[in-house]
Amino acid sequence: MKFFIDTANVEDIKKANDMGVICGVTTNPSLIAKEGRDFNEVIKEITSIVDGPISGEVKATTEDAQGMIAEGRQIAAIHPNMVVKIPMTVEGLKATKVLSSEGIKVNVTLIFSANQALLAARAGAAYVSPFLGRLDDISQPGIDLIRDIVDIFANYDISTEIICASVRNPIHITDCALAGADIATVPYKVIEQMVHHPLTDAGIEKFKKDYEAVFGK
Ligand code: E4P
Repeated sequence: MKFFIDTANVEDIKKANDMGVICGVTTNPSLIAKEGRDFNEVIKEITSIVDGPISGEVKATTEDAQGMIAEGRQIAAIHPNMVVKIPMTVEGLKATKVLSSEGIKVNVTLIFSANQALLAARAGAAYVSPFLGRLDDISQPGIDLIRDIVDIFANYDISTEIICASVRNPIHITDCALAGADIATVPYKVIEQMVHHPLTDAGIEKFKKDYEAVFGK
């Protein structure tokens, strides 16, 4: 399973990129708004940091296919690595069909059922983004959705990649990898949580103490 980082914060993107663990970035309107910066400016900066797929979402206020197509073309023109993120609606599927037929990669987002994922794939999406955490929040196991989509895509050799989104903790990551998902898009905080283990930290301390006891600092 590959990792993307799920943020529009360039400092966090730089830190994760320097670790060598991420190969893409996802953003959404909430994440862009949180940074309070111009969309094009922040997206351009992200493309200069990470050499991999960067998802930029159409405006939350753009609800018709024609508007999403026009905006999608503008997003795609920012950089060859851009992926256009489109919400899972009838209009969104129409936009996905047109943009993907033009060779523009589309990430269909806000996926909460296997049927939505299958429809998005058939419309030409390069990626689907099922949201685990938000399903868990309403007492529906998000991981079941990931497993279903992995199985269905395997049944029909569908090449659309599954991006596990709305990831909230390291257990989500292990479960997604076991399920066979292609990618997990992860907030920086969760990447840091994945790095640490109390026995690793204790081991480092002990090696340091033992070494210094004999050889000094
Ligand atoms: C997906 O691409 C979204 O940006 C994201 O994962 C949503 O996560 P949230 O439910 O934590 O907002």
